[in-house]
Amino acid sequence: RPKVTLPRLRALAAEATPIVMVTAYDFASGRVAERAGVDIVLVGDSGAQVVLGHPDTTSVTLDEMLTLAKAVRRAVHTPLVLCDLPFGSSELSDEQAVATSVRFVHEAGAEAVKLEGASPARLSRLRAIVEAGIPVVGHVGLTPQTATALGGLRTQGRTVDEALRVARDALAVQDAGACALVIEAVPADVVAEIRRALRIPVIGIGAGAADGQVLVQHDLLGISEGRVPTFVKRYADLGKAMVDGVEAYAREVRDGHFPAVEHTYPASADVVAAVRE
Ligand code: KIV
Ligand code: NA
Repeated sequence: RPKVTLPRLRALAAEATPIVMVTAYDFASGRVAERAGVDIVLVGDSGAQVVLGHPDTTSVTLDEMLTLAKAVRRAVHTPLVLCDLPFGSSELSDEQAVATSVRFVHEAGAEAVKLEGASPARLSRLRAIVEAGIPVVGHVGLTPQTATALGGLRTQGRTVDEALRVARDALAVQDAGACALVIEAVPADVVAEIRRALRIPVIGIGAGAADGQVLVQHDLLGISEGRVPTFVKRYADLGKAMVDGVEAYAREVRDGHFPAVEHTYPASADVVAAVRE
């Protein structure tokens, strides 16, 4: 498969071939995404919860995100590698946003960065990063980094006011120079109308049909514990399979069935006798 580039993504959208995006947070999940043949791998700040155990995305630091991104990059060669700018790494100034994005490119081999929101300050950051030559994917609708202000992790765009805000945000992010846009947790019919006004590819999550889809890998594989959002479809139940596997191991260690002869190294009798001396 050829390397996925921005022109390739635009071509997929133009020919109405859905773009497939999935998150990854380390070498193993990066390899899964690479081997499965997805188009974009997102090193999402959802890693805060998924692999670092934080309560929400705002807790993950830039250094932690860089560590995750570097591990993913070592695993991913064909898909485009996209990295989330975590909360706090671009809020202070356009200069900070560019410096952070450059670190993702330099240190982690990111090919694009994703920036949440469409406030005047966010749009200014977006333009600054694009001017520095780094492609930016926007993210509107439900933006988890500012979920508190949005009233929690809830659907956006169910009222006229909210739907118009999401539409205005989407257009503003496109006009600021984003190469693509993630829309999260917005009614499908509202997204369909917004898409008619956009030229850039729209990647949906809880947003109905779009130019592409994104899901958290651990959610779709059933590794995440507890309730997952309505928009998640579980394609596997790996969490249960993993616990079953470790339980079986624990049982066999305790009852002496593990290790068996085939898991041990043989030594000749004279070696054993010498050690016994
Ligand atoms: O961090 C993340 O996983 C995301 C996607 C779900 C869009 O931003
Ligand atoms: Na994110």
